[in-house]
Amino acid sequence: MKITSAEFVISNSNVAKCPKDNLPEYAFIGRSNVGKSSLINMLTDRKSLAKTSGRPGKTQLINHFLINKNWFLVDLPGYGYARVSKSAKKVFQKFITAYFSKREQLITAFVLVDCRHEPQKIDLEFMQWLGENQIPFSIIFTKGDKLSENKLSKQIESYTKEMLEYWEEMPNYFITSSSSGMGKEEVLAYITELNEQFST
Ligand code: GTP
Ligand code: MG
Repeated sequence: MKITSAEFVISNSNVAKCPKDNLPEYAFIGRSNVGKSSLINMLTDRKSLAKTSGRPGKTQLINHFLINKNWFLVDLPGYGYARVSKSAKKVFQKFITAYFSKREQLITAFVLVDCRHEPQKIDLEFMQWLGENQIPFSIIFTKGDKLSENKLSKQIESYTKEMLEYWEEMPNYFITSSSSGMGKEEVLAYITELNEQFST
């Protein structure tokens, strides 16, 4: 897919104020600093469409980006960031949960995990929650440039093995790198396919 336009539309913490257009959307979720905002920039070929930072806790709201005037990418705050106060975490958790449970035009969630890490409790719990709420999701392994090809496939193998303790099959997944562009075509092709299903 060629992205011809990518525009920031609105930021807010209230799912009721998200865009009303009934366009398909795709949300990026995961721990702080995993690379959600960077991935949005990589996919859209825009350097600073979504704000990124080396310090976790950068994205604090639900951000809608309109792509090619007919679908949305949604950037969300990270979960599990220890340095945000407990009360701030609760607020995040509340609107993130509200977003996922109420946003009917959400086609699929992308749960981002750092390819260097073993499965983390918070990610497993979140995927479990998505499953229980019948919200489709794919996993995106980020920062693929940080490992050799060999190490990367070993990591994915061990991640899969652990996932299979909780899931009957490994969820659909992608491996990406926002610095090298790895996985870009695959993720965009998947979104294109889902957009087509949505419109028929
Ligand atoms: P929050 O908004 O705080 O939840 O973080 P986020 O998940 O949006 O992460 P963000 O995109 O801001 O990236 C965090 C840091 O990781 C930044 O310093 C990025 O440059 C770096 N980063 C993100 N993706 C990649 C990647 O694919 N490869 C490498 N090497 N660094 C990355
Ligand atoms: Mg962010």
